Amino acid sequence: MNYKYLGDTGVLVSEICLGTMTFGGEGYWQAIGQLQQDSVNEIVKMAVDEGINFVDTANVYSFGQSETLLGRAIKDLGLSRDDLVIATKVRGRMGEGKNQVGLGRLQIMQQLESSLKRLQVDHIDLYQIHGFDAATPLEETMRGLEDVVRSGKVRYIGCSNLAAWQVMKANGIADKYGWSKFVSTQNYYSIAGRDLENEIVPMTQDQHMAILPWSPLAGGFLSGKYTRNNKPTDGSRRLNFDFPPVNQERAYDIIDVMERIGADHGVSVARIALAWVLSKPPVTSVIIGAKTTEQLLDNLKATDLSLTTEQLEQLDEVSMTPKPYPQWMIERQSRDRLASASFTPTQSSMIK
Ligand SMILES: NC(=O)c1ccc[n+]([C@@H]2O[C@H](COP(=O)([O-])OP(=O)(O)OC[C@H]3O[C@@H](n4cnc5c(N)ncnc54)[C@H](OP(=O)(O)O)[C@@H]3O)[C@@H](O)[C@H]2O)c1
Repeated sequence: MNYKYLGDTGVLVSEICLGTMTFGGEGYWQAIGQLQQDSVNEIVKMAVDEGINFVDTANVYSFGQSETLLGRAIKDLGLSRDDLVIATKVRGRMGEGKNQVGLGRLQIMQQLESSLKRLQVDHIDLYQIHGFDAATPLEETMRGLEDVVRSGKVRYIGCSNLAAWQVMKANGIADKYGWSKFVSTQNYYSIAGRDLENEIVPMTQDQHMAILPWSPLAGGFLSGKYTRNNKPTDGSRRLNFDFPPVNQERAYDIIDVMERIGADHGVSVARIALAWVLSKPPVTSVIIGAKTTEQLLDNLKATDLSLTTEQLEQLDEVSMTPKPYPQWMIERQSRDRLASASFTPTQSSMIK
């Protein structure tokens, strides 16, 4: 297992982060996973034994059950709290009440206390906002987050599912007042969903923020179980739950190439899909999901898989989508600024 710094911080996290959305099974989350304590303990033990030190959950996963099951697993397994980097999130609806949702100061304070209780810990290492809250001023959210950091109950803050301009605005507000800034952004990124490369990746490189991709197998669609001619019959979650959205025709073309490369290495398609995400330098830690220890082990082995330059090029090519505007224009205009230092401006390139 390799470890990388979490953005600009001095914290090392494993390049695979254990996702816990399959823990619990309450309400909406039933379709994703229903792992109860014994299975959760097995998954967490295997993850830690294999070198994972980074775990991601959210208050809203199974309405708190995921946090509760994770907290209990840490206790049951006798894991050292200090050896783990625990990430959780706030924003999703946690009850019928008018204010039991969002990123107002009230909700941040209440939800943090509830997460700490469920996880049985006295601090959260990475507290992430789970999305944008269009109803709460960003100043209020960032001040609320600064206060929970100052209280000692949160070490670092991160964000998830925000547009690049929203992250920059939030961090700009924090900068102005000397408050804590987001050190990481958690976003959907897979070989069948590369939108992140357009705005978020350049932003994180400029801002030295960590990228934590979620659903690297597109919720199982890229695991090898789904092909043009075959679908699983085992209750796999994507059969009834189309999330994250995937352009299936395009994805099947990618799966065809992954199958060929997988056969060359004698490994699963899932491992190829994960190895591709892991090969991308801006990625800090890939958040994986697993319903069984077999799936987890398969996925963890992606860290030992070296794809050749040629294989990576084949995968890049089949999964590439046209760059949207203004990205293609930015690249075009940057050519005469970022090319070799010996570049000599011509009359036409100097015309503004
Ligand atoms: N911030 C956010 O908004 C957000 C959103 C989504 C997820 N996340 C985080 O990201 C984590 C991972 O998301 P995800 O669960 O969607 O990840 P994923 O890796 O895309 O999908 C995981 C699912 O794929 C199937 N699978 C996994 N490994 C497999 C293997 N080796 N062979 C065959 N099937 C396999 C399993 O489902 P089946 O067996 O049912 O097919 C498993 O539950 C979550 O736990 C959560 O922490 C965050």
